[in-house]
Amino acid sequence: MSIIYFDHAATTPMRREAIEAYVDAASKGPGNPSSLHAGGRSARSGLTASRDTLARILNCDPGEIVFTGGGTESDNAALYGAAHAQRLKTGRDRIVTTAIEHHAVLHACHKLEAEGFKLTVLPVDETGRVRLSAAEEAIGDDVAVVSVMYGNNEVGTLQPIAEIGALARERGAVMHSDAVQAFGYERFDLRQLPVDLLSLSAHKIGGPQGVGVLYVRKGTPYEPTARGGSQEKSRRAGTENVAGIAAFAKAAELAHSSIEERRREAEEVRAKLLADLTEQLGEDAVRINGAIDPKRRLPHILNVSFPGISNETMLMNLDLSGVAASAGSACTAGSLQPSHVLIAMGLETHFYQSAIRFSFGMGNNTAEAEKTAKIIATITKRLRNR
Ligand SMILES: Cc1ncc(COP(=O)(O)O)c(C=O)c1O
Repeated sequence: MSIIYFDHAATTPMRREAIEAYVDAASKGPGNPSSLHAGGRSARSGLTASRDTLARILNCDPGEIVFTGGGTESDNAALYGAAHAQRLKTGRDRIVTTAIEHHAVLHACHKLEAEGFKLTVLPVDETGRVRLSAAEEAIGDDVAVVSVMYGNNEVGTLQPIAEIGALARERGAVMHSDAVQAFGYERFDLRQLPVDLLSLSAHKIGGPQGVGVLYVRKGTPYEPTARGGSQEKSRRAGTENVAGIAAFAKAAELAHSSIEERRREAEEVRAKLLADLTEQLGEDAVRINGAIDPKRRLPHILNVSFPGISNETMLMNLDLSGVAASAGSACTAGSLQPSHVLIAMGLETHFYQSAIRFSFGMGNNTAEAEKTAKIIATITKRLRNR
């Protein structure tokens, strides 16, 4: 049975070119990029090339790129790094974030709260978007860090990052954004965007798992969490994953140069799945969670509720029929806890308990969307007739 993989927001298949870049870098003879001998210099030159590629894509200085072990580490390092440095430098001790962040941000915020930081969690509207007025009210002179994700991983809703970043800057707070899901679908111009820290992860765009970037704007108050060697200009100690980083740079280059095509393809599959589901099940049996307006959401995520059928039952049945989807973020899905994102959006119990996230990417097509809608119609009829 061939699998229909509609779970690209959880992880993407590695691109062939990224695998080749990995193998190529890993096959070069031993070289720690911090070593002075020829092998070390060769590894360093590969690392420098990858850094330059990512800096060009983000329109920032290569020195502002810090390689990490993935999106979670970037988020943690951003929050702890900026909060601790700000408290030391300015005495500011408040963190402002939103109710729909990934747990990598939320749990780091709660850890900071346990350390004595004050925490303000901004609510969102029914589409999952933060109201600017709430941000405006919350970002006062005591705020050390503002952390608002660029695009949500469960429902795809985009946030007003430029506006919130401008507020943070005006009020002397460090602005962090988790762009793990948006990277590869949105263009970033960090010379313009008022963001000081930005988290990226390679495995969401066809790169390897366990590799990420934290962009750290020059001059941003930042205390490193990982201490040891002076790698990454002492902002993240530890020998860099040279081959993984080369693969990330290759995947990023390819994703970036085909953003419009990627967006169009994802929108097509999304639209087809939604149209067929509505046609087969009827409008009342399908509820879209998140922003509808394409300008306010990512193109590759579709979150829908099938009231009356628990998401666990639906996912198991989809899996048996060869469709891989998810109930929300991967970590939540593992334990199938109710989604904090859907609850923050004010969904009633029967809607959040029946919500499924379909997420699209390379290799998907509208025929798969058509087939999936048919499978869901069959599953729904079977379960409802029981
Ligand atoms: C928005 C967001 N932030 C952070 C992460 C964590 O990234 P990683 O899996 O690379 O640790 C994810 C992954 O699901 C995500 O979707």
